[in-house]
Amino acid sequence: MSEETTLQQSRLPQHVAIIMDGNGRWAAARHKPRQFGHHQGVEAVRRCVEAAGNLGIRHLTLYSFSTENWRRPEEEIKALFNLMRGFVEKDVKQLRDNGVHVRILGAREKLSPDLIAMIDDVESQTSHNHKLYLNIAFNYGGRDELARTCRALARKVKAGDLDVDDITEASISKHLDTASVPDPEIILRTSGEQRLSNFLLWQSAYSEFIVLDVLWPDFTQTHFEEALRIYQSRERRQGGIEP
Ligand code: IPE
Ligand code: IPE
Ligand code: MG
Repeated sequence: MSEETTLQQSRLPQHVAIIMDGNGRWAAARHKPRQFGHHQGVEAVRRCVEAAGNLGIRHLTLYSFSTENWRRPEEEIKALFNLMRGFVEKDVKQLRDNGVHVRILGAREKLSPDLIAMIDDVESQTSHNHKLYLNIAFNYGGRDELARTCRALARKVKAGDLDVDDITEASISKHLDTASVPDPEIILRTSGEQRLSNFLLWQSAYSEFIVLDVLWPDFTQTHFEEALRIYQSRERRQGGIEP
């Protein structure tokens, strides 16, 4: 793909969702602990949020801790949680001042009360913003999200607030963590791995899946632009035939 191909402004995606992968390999290549890679990964998150704003993307979703990541060593989990805490604490002011609306996707049950308070705080401090909607998937799993959604719908039916026949694709979408967020046109994964790893299972039904070879800590705006160019070169049929 030529670097020079300019992006077509009329064909930009509304929503780009990213599986930020490769922090551990990035650190290993430098003979450093995995945590060092995660630390540098936060810098890539900052660059990515800025790039999304520069490129005119409205919705950006970043996968930062999966329900399966609990299988990692305790020390690494601790480091990832501390980085999440540090990010919401340190960056809240800048995000708020730059028009970013932050939402945290995922299950809250296993999170400590202080972290839940920090999440509530960053969400409420940025809720009036509309330039860029930043969703951070933390303690998120697509299957867990669907199970939580089923429980929420079943409770409504049981309470007599919802008719069984009103369980539709639209009402399911409205009960997901991503309620009111359009489905992502792009799921981008770094580090060359070609799998979804339980990310946005419902929402990715028709997403274009794009894999880049870059390790997440090295991700820059240039990579973001490359993904958008690949997207614009694809033909999206969505079950129909070419126009
Ligand atoms: C992505 O990097 C960050 C998280 C999953 C939290 P990894 O930690 O998965 O890095 P690799 O895949 O081992 O290189
Ligand atoms: C997916 O990456 C989860 C996040 C990026 C948060 P993993 O590195 O955990 O995925 P697998 O284990 O390689 O599928
Ligand atoms: Mg990984």
